[in-house]
Amino acid sequence: MTNSLDFASEPPVPDALPPWWRQAVVYQIYPRSFADSNADGLGDLRGITSRIDYLDKLGIDAVWLSPFYPSALADGGYDVADYRDVDPRLGTLDDFDAMLAALHAHDLKVVVDIVPNHTSDQHAWFQEALAAGRGSAARERYIFREGSGTDGLEPPTDWLSVFGGSAWERVEDGQWYLHNFAKEQPDLNWDHPEVHEDFLKTLRFWSDRGVDGFRIDVAHMLTKDLTEPLPSRDELALIPRDGNHPLIDRDDVHEIYAEWREVFDSYDPPRTAVAEAWVHPSRIHLYARPESLGQAFNFDLLEADFDAAQFHRIISDNLALAAQSGSSSTWVLSNHDVVRHATRYGLPVSEAGAAAPTRHGGEWLLNGGDESLLNRERGARRARAATLFIMGLPGSTYIYQGEELGLHEVASIPAADRQDPTFFRTQGAEIGRDGCRVPLPWVATGTAFGFGEGGTHLPQPEWFARQAVDTEERDPASTLMLYRNALRLRCTLQTGESLEWIDTGRDDVLRFARPNGWHVVTNFGVEPYAIDESEVVLASADIAAGAVAGETTVWLAPSTLVNDA
Ligand code: NOJ
Repeated sequence: MTNSLDFASEPPVPDALPPWWRQAVVYQIYPRSFADSNADGLGDLRGITSRIDYLDKLGIDAVWLSPFYPSALADGGYDVADYRDVDPRLGTLDDFDAMLAALHAHDLKVVVDIVPNHTSDQHAWFQEALAAGRGSAARERYIFREGSGTDGLEPPTDWLSVFGGSAWERVEDGQWYLHNFAKEQPDLNWDHPEVHEDFLKTLRFWSDRGVDGFRIDVAHMLTKDLTEPLPSRDELALIPRDGNHPLIDRDDVHEIYAEWREVFDSYDPPRTAVAEAWVHPSRIHLYARPESLGQAFNFDLLEADFDAAQFHRIISDNLALAAQSGSSSTWVLSNHDVVRHATRYGLPVSEAGAAAPTRHGGEWLLNGGDESLLNRERGARRARAATLFIMGLPGSTYIYQGEELGLHEVASIPAADRQDPTFFRTQGAEIGRDGCRVPLPWVATGTAFGFGEGGTHLPQPEWFARQAVDTEERDPASTLMLYRNALRLRCTLQTGESLEWIDTGRDDVLRFARPNGWHVVTNFGVEPYAIDESEVVLASADIAAGAVAGETTVWLAPSTLVNDA
């Protein structure tokens, strides 16, 4: 239906084109699970280079690479041992340069991940700090404290790590260091000038090599006020997060980003950045300001149901927040930290709404991924509708590898194969994020579904065969083909950064118009919603009898705006 449309008149080209990132489609690659070129079971940079045609055909604007730096993999690479090198299992700096050149040759931008809150415990600085002992200058780069209780045997405070368990770890000589994540991820001391200098060097290192932008990991946690006496966990919880909280979203973190901004803007074109900042919505604009990081992730849709009222509120709020900062909004349905959206949307949501235990899929995974609770077809159908909906919005869209195949979360990972520190630090009380990080299926038959000849570092399920790239490429109705069609057409939609909501007379149907005259309609309910079928440019599911069926999105354009070729 959609492959044969051309536009009667080209959209006007503004005098100065807006920066590429404002409305970009960014494809997140989790390198260890994308494609393995050397049969060691881990995806690598040459694997990415070998799949550039696939990325090109998808119609994205940029790739964001999760960490590929040397790492002991205590947290999937977010424990970085050297910020200016490539993990030898993933390749070399030469491989990186070759990959970058190949992506650029296909007009694809490259964003890399910067992890500034913590290093790996294998980082040279931390090893030096351990060897140098208490009171040494080397320990000043991290956050070492004496313990509490008799002989300092207890941690300095009762703070918990984000991954569970104490946020403090004791070293051989009896001191403790702070780690807000795994114990292999010691927090850096951002009051230390060398920490500042080193990250500026890292940003220049990758910018000089030609990367186009950076994704900043836990951007809201770098600076800390650790004036004694330190508050207890309960006291911490009562302190407002208004910019002066001791640990989270402090105003002074933006002094760091002002330094970084000078580096970003010293390049032509300026390097971009996007903040991973889990902060109150009223404070997100601080990260998205042009003098700070320039853009911030909006994660609200990761926590929302497939529900018209929730989508409407989130979209309106986030467009307003983006306008407040002068940035553009970001739309994210899946990433490497959450249960895949096809699965989330296929699970029951209890009447309790936000408190529903299966809401985001974590509880379901914990209980072994009971297939009788997961409606796979419905989840996939809703995921396609939600994706087509967000792709029609102004702002940038982030796609997480595998969602373009409609992949579900892999629930069937034996405990012995699990890798996520969350699973271990909570003694299995939280199942962790491995289920969305399983290596991609490229072909329906063959070793590791074409991921590589050496097997995989996480087990792939049998059902991957039905959603392998080669299977979906043969099926015009597949999710992969929907993504390709949508992204090919999407650039026509993005002629301005606004939308106008249209009253549908239905609580469960959202409709908005874009400046180019196109409309996006999503029927979140089950009753069909009447439309002019002749205007359908693209649909997430079959359209019948002049109506959008339930759980379906359509893009509509008046016939004066399109020609049938
Ligand atoms: C956020 C990353 O997305 C996540 O994967 C990681 O575990 C934490 N930050 C810690 O670096």
